[in-house]
Amino acid sequence: MKTKRIDSPEEAAKLIRAGGIVAFPTETVFGLGVDATNEDAVRRLYIAKGRPSDNPLIVHLSDAGLWKSAAAELPNSAKSLLEAFSPGPITVVLAKSSKIGSLVSAGLNTVGIRIPDHSIAHTILKHAGVPVAAPSANRSGRPSGTTWQSVLEDLDGRIDGIFCQDSPSLGIESTVVDCTSPVPTVLRLGAVTLEQIRSIIPDTQELTPTAQGQTTPARPSMSPGLAHPHYQPKAQVILIHSQTQDFQKHEIKKQNGSNAYCGLTSPPNLDFDYCQTYLTIHDYAAAFYEFLREADRRSIQTIYIEAAPAKGIGRALLDRQQRAAAKK
Ligand code: TXA
Ligand code: MG
Repeated sequence: MKTKRIDSPEEAAKLIRAGGIVAFPTETVFGLGVDATNEDAVRRLYIAKGRPSDNPLIVHLSDAGLWKSAAAELPNSAKSLLEAFSPGPITVVLAKSSKIGSLVSAGLNTVGIRIPDHSIAHTILKHAGVPVAAPSANRSGRPSGTTWQSVLEDLDGRIDGIFCQDSPSLGIESTVVDCTSPVPTVLRLGAVTLEQIRSIIPDTQELTPTAQGQTTPARPSMSPGLAHPHYQPKAQVILIHSQTQDFQKHEIKKQNGSNAYCGLTSPPNLDFDYCQTYLTIHDYAAAFYEFLREADRRSIQTIYIEAAPAKGIGRALLDRQQRAAAKK
């Protein structure tokens, strides 16, 4: 299959309406959109990504007022969260409408909906006129794509079209909040921080991190996708919490192969083959996935990642870092 380069939102929308798979930018990461009401298109999307069929897709809408095209009801908690953070990087999980097939929801009776805050994504969704299921635009297990070149690296020839325009993005996906119980639960940390969510709904729960840094849902069926590997480059990833101690422990030696480092603070005096330090946690989050991908392009063997501080967007970045460093 040839992947068409697209530069008009109308054309992207037309391709989606015709059953195509189209990558487009959002304010978080690139998404891979299909008509959520077209079972064949959704099936092709799972295959293109190599996505396990038990990991549900988020349905994207141009406006929160269109929630009925995907969900059966809108509880007050979801309404408040959408009012506060939408359009924006939040996904609310609701009871599913029968308009959305079971492939999109991976057999669950719920559906995640999100309204992106990005003019190209918005225009595409508006012209598509259908709910658009859109996972992150990467091969399953790989770091998400934040540039169209990265998306093509993973998916050229596997998708029908790609909107070839980069725009500054948050670099971390939306926060996924389950609103189907009286007390909402954050299923995936994301660009809207836990602190921001609790400023609207103070008793919001979060999934408890395990020793490996993986999170386990209160009910295993709540977010089956969490069990799969995520955000992993080809290189080995080592998360470091305190530079001096951990660097000594790992005894980085040049002859062990090529090394890369990224973090907020400058690394100790070691000769890294690829090294990036960022001024702010927001810069770090925005650049993280692309750093991992660039390290792979340079055939780096070991990537040392300075752990993000566990507050604000740093919590979501730390979650991604822990998953990137998890055993393959
Ligand atoms: O920022 C984002 O959310 C990006 C952009 C493209 O919108 N999308 C994204 O999609 O990250 P994806 O497929 O890579 O991740 C979706 C996450 C997964 O962890 C999935 O398990 C969860 O949302 N999810 C989707 N629907 C769900 C549902 N009904 N119940 C529980 N979790 C759900
Ligand atoms: Mg993803």
